Amino acid sequence: MKLLITGGAGFIGSNFILYMLEHHPDYDIINLDKLTYAGNLENLASAGGNPHYSFIRGDIADAKLVDAILDGGVDAVINFAAESHVDRSILEPAAFIKTNVLGTQLLLDRAREKHVGRFIQISTDEVYGSLGATGKFTETTCLHPNSPYSASKASADMIAQAYFETFSMPVMITRTSNNYGPYQFPEKFLPLAVTNLLEDRPVPVYGDGLNVRDWIFVMDNAEAIDLVLHKGKEGEVYNIGAGEERTNKAFIESVLHLMGKPASLITSVKDRPGHDRRYAIDPSKIMDRLGWKPRTVLDRGLQTTIDWYTVNRTWWKRIKSGEYLEYYEKNYAVKGLKGY
Ligand code: NAD
Ligand code: TYD
Repeated sequence: MKLLITGGAGFIGSNFILYMLEHHPDYDIINLDKLTYAGNLENLASAGGNPHYSFIRGDIADAKLVDAILDGGVDAVINFAAESHVDRSILEPAAFIKTNVLGTQLLLDRAREKHVGRFIQISTDEVYGSLGATGKFTETTCLHPNSPYSASKASADMIAQAYFETFSMPVMITRTSNNYGPYQFPEKFLPLAVTNLLEDRPVPVYGDGLNVRDWIFVMDNAEAIDLVLHKGKEGEVYNIGAGEERTNKAFIESVLHLMGKPASLITSVKDRPGHDRRYAIDPSKIMDRLGWKPRTVLDRGLQTTIDWYTVNRTWWKRIKSGEYLEYYEKNYAVKGLKGY
């Protein structure tokens, strides 16, 4: 099989490529990535020299480039490329519409024109909006996105579904809960917390810390996407989640405990505007129909992740400078975080 993976230099995309090179060593993988602030080819250093892997720097919205790649023969497109951080979408929404909506539509168009056999749109549980204290998102839950990020992802999902209905394009969508693991950009909650704690800096917790997220180890998500690629049914949506719901406060307390750091490093800051209260995924469809199950319990996944950031200091120290500092200042100064 020959796969075009977009956004493969980011967190989930790079973990997925490493997973596929290990589990399908005869597949050819082309990684198309624009290398925004979030893209990092160091994530794929271990794939360097593998004749089955190649990298092309470019935009999913570049029709000529995408056509040239697809003309080389591609069996499936897996679209990870996106602007992915909610707080950045609040500060500057335009890039989210450009890449997540228009970029996805362009990629769908080119894949349709070139008769690509499968197209997987990587989406998020955030398209469903916020839950109350009970219940879970199923694939038929109405879309109710609340942030510019989730609205852009919901738009892309709807366009992808329309391409299935209208053009019989072989599209599938995965909607996953919060991923964590190695190579996650330290703007996201867990790597931000771990890297701050490694330097005994405060961890900013938004609002009352009682927002709930449902955590999944990134390699469990990779395995689920692999199953959807091979066994998923065209036109279907698959929710992916590991049933590890935690309030942000409880989640960060586990991290402090595993790292042996004092609770005094937790710092409450001003809440994110429009902050979704609770996400929880019902993954029974992918479990029943495709035989997927999560393998990593949260505490073990957290330990693996903490160990990775502890050993790979040069990876994140390089990132936590330049552009990152500008963003950190912009997002956290207004939230009242002191001493960062
Ligand atoms: P990320 O921000 O770490 O990586 C995104 C990658 O896309 C980067 O390498 C970036 O350079 C690339 N990119 C951005 N714009 C591009 C463009 N126009 N053309 C080509 N490449 C471009 O994101 P992530 O956390 O790895 O998320 C990957 C996908 O999974 C996204 O679609 C996201 O919405 C979805 N998702 C993420 C999570 C999560 O917890 N991280 C959960 C559910 C779904
Ligand atoms: P994040 O990693 O940004 O993922 P998402 O918003 O897509 O779920 O945030 C996870 C949760 O952690 C979310 O409820 C917001 C919260 N959070 C903080 O409390 N402090 C932070 O500094 C960040 C980045 C997030």
